[in-house]
Amino acid sequence: METKSYKVQTNGKGVCGKTTVNGKTLNENGVNRNGVNGNGVHHVNIKGALYPIKSKSRRQRWEVKPSEMANNTLNPIRAIVDGMKLTPNPDKPMIALSIGDPTVFGNLPTDGAVLQAMKDAIDSQKYNGYAPSVGYLQSRQAVANVYSCPEAPLEAEDVILTSGCSQAIDLAISVLCNPGDNILVPCPGFSLYKTLAVSMGIEVKLYNLLPEKSWEVDLQHMESLIDERTSCLIITNPSNPCGSVFNKKHLQEILKVASRHCVPILADEIYSDMVFPGCSSPSMASLSSDVPILSCGGLAKRWLVPGWRMGWILIHDRNDIFGTEIRQGLVKLSQRILGACSIVQGALEQIFNNTPQSFYNSTISFLKSNSEICFSKLSSVPGLTPVMPSGAMYIMVSVERVKNFKRDSERELLLNKKVCLIPTKQHIKKRGVTQDFCTTAKPNRVDQHQSLHDRNTRFMLFIHN
Ligand SMILES: Cc1ncc(COP(=O)(O)O)c(C=O)c1O
Repeated sequence: METKSYKVQTNGKGVCGKTTVNGKTLNENGVNRNGVNGNGVHHVNIKGALYPIKSKSRRQRWEVKPSEMANNTLNPIRAIVDGMKLTPNPDKPMIALSIGDPTVFGNLPTDGAVLQAMKDAIDSQKYNGYAPSVGYLQSRQAVANVYSCPEAPLEAEDVILTSGCSQAIDLAISVLCNPGDNILVPCPGFSLYKTLAVSMGIEVKLYNLLPEKSWEVDLQHMESLIDERTSCLIITNPSNPCGSVFNKKHLQEILKVASRHCVPILADEIYSDMVFPGCSSPSMASLSSDVPILSCGGLAKRWLVPGWRMGWILIHDRNDIFGTEIRQGLVKLSQRILGACSIVQGALEQIFNNTPQSFYNSTISFLKSNSEICFSKLSSVPGLTPVMPSGAMYIMVSVERVKNFKRDSERELLLNKKVCLIPTKQHIKKRGVTQDFCTTAKPNRVDQHQSLHDRNTRFMLFIHN
């Protein structure tokens, strides 16, 4: 006798639509109305008879708790930024130094061609449906065309479209690591890596970046951390939060470490091409002869549209080390949710083809000039030592730790002095004084003298409070 049962959800008046078991319709109007109970759920055996659910639960009272994953998820930046909304203080305007969203101050609009591409995608009515989980082939091809180079050629099949670079990082970590594995993450670094890894039971090992060497990787330290369970090495270049750009030689040195220990690289290259004149930043993949690389990027920064949530993973695996398994793993993970918005996918090709070079140039020159102003003004504040950036959107400032200085006191700072910046884990001792590093984003209107004056005064108050 068949004992299998099926759950049937009803709408209170009877079953919604027809219920079919083994190809037989149970009842035209739904299951026997008399048998419908309050919550409308029945078990129906294979012959169509109804019987009440026998409870297998001993629960007597409500106890709904957040999952371990939820409890283990903390994004410190979001916690600070989201928390800011709770702290209105009418006496002084906010000087926001913590925001990496280039759209917030209205002074860095995206290009008209980017907007037009979106409008055309909407008007075409071609992108209102579900795209394949890894993205439309044509859109993947468009990304491949932009990032392919002779040293690291890409085809459409090497591209997976995601919801922002964040989902790209999420998929990349998820496909490479198991709980109990570890990943190597830069310190100071972008906080999302740890947020994602810890929630998945992956250990995070921080390798140092060296402020005195323009935030290059401490290679010896990095190598000393690698063990049997190291499943990937994260490299952020150009860097958030340091604003640094690694040169070719340094990238090659990093690749040698990865190659010696057979560890793949997750290259976070969301700021690729956002480097100041005079610096160059080859992609990690263009320099790799053997190390397989998942390069994560997106539209957010270079095209100044972080809210459009368009990102990608570029799979570089010339020696077939990832093989089909990692590729299939990425495809499977992308099927959990369809991440990338169809309309933005529809606009991609036009965005890449029509954005004028002058737009990219003017963004870079704005960021460079802001960096120079920040650097010179911050240098004049006793206790602060900024490190001149070479790209991206941030400038690191070393803050002398004096008496009463409270580390991680950004909330307090926000409340009292209305300056918001992001502390990092990096601190060094110089001539007996500890220096903490904070990062500050540059899209704000630093060109206004008053704002700078205010900012510096408040910085001083912060340090010496
Ligand atoms: C280094 C780095 N990687 C990834 C991201 C996330 O990018 P997205 O907004 O496309 O998810 C950011 C955003 O600030 C970032 O700075």
